[in-house]
Amino acid sequence: MRWVLLLVVVVASAAIAAWLLSPATSQAAPPAVSPAVAGPELGQRIYARCQACHGVGGLGVSGMTPGLAGNPRVVGDPRPLIRVVLHGLRGGAKMPMVGFAQQLSDAEIAAVLTYVRQTWGNAGSPVEPAAVTAERAASHSGQWTAAELGW
Ligand code: HEC
Repeated sequence: MRWVLLLVVVVASAAIAAWLLSPATSQAAPPAVSPAVAGPELGQRIYARCQACHGVGGLGVSGMTPGLAGNPRVVGDPRPLIRVVLHGLRGGAKMPMVGFAQQLSDAEIAAVLTYVRQTWGNAGSPVEPAAVTAERAASHSGQWTAAELGW
């Protein structure tokens, strides 16, 4: 009878492991919340994706990527910023930035832009998800250039 008990334990552990590792639980869609409701945590979490290139503290990587801390473009008109995060930017650095239109929701883009506009001493206004929705609707093919953005 002991082996039956052992079998039950093994099957139950496998089922629990499968449940814990199932993509449905780990890849659940992020909730569509406004950055005002989400607070700075959502923006900070999304910034982890930007940090590889723009650095801890938004300092950028010398000769490679622009810093976001103390950058007048980052605290200025939010529209060009939304466009850059949606579709990317080229022509101003050794490598282009690829856009996040496919990876991030409007609420996530609003949250991360609100975060970079209000962190590291930056004092920009928050970015609303509706502003991102409007820019997404005015679709653009390829990456933007600074000239196209009026920068
Ligand atoms: C794979 C590297 C990479 C990632 C990831 C990345 N960027 Fe960039 N980003 C760049 C590069 C390179 C540029 C400059 C491109 C150019 O000027 O041609 C740039 C430019 C920018 C600019 C314009 C700054 C300026 O002064 O011109 C902003 C704003 C920006 N990125 C925000 C973000 C945000 C927010 C994220 C995360 C959602 C992000 N980036 C993710 C590489 C990256």
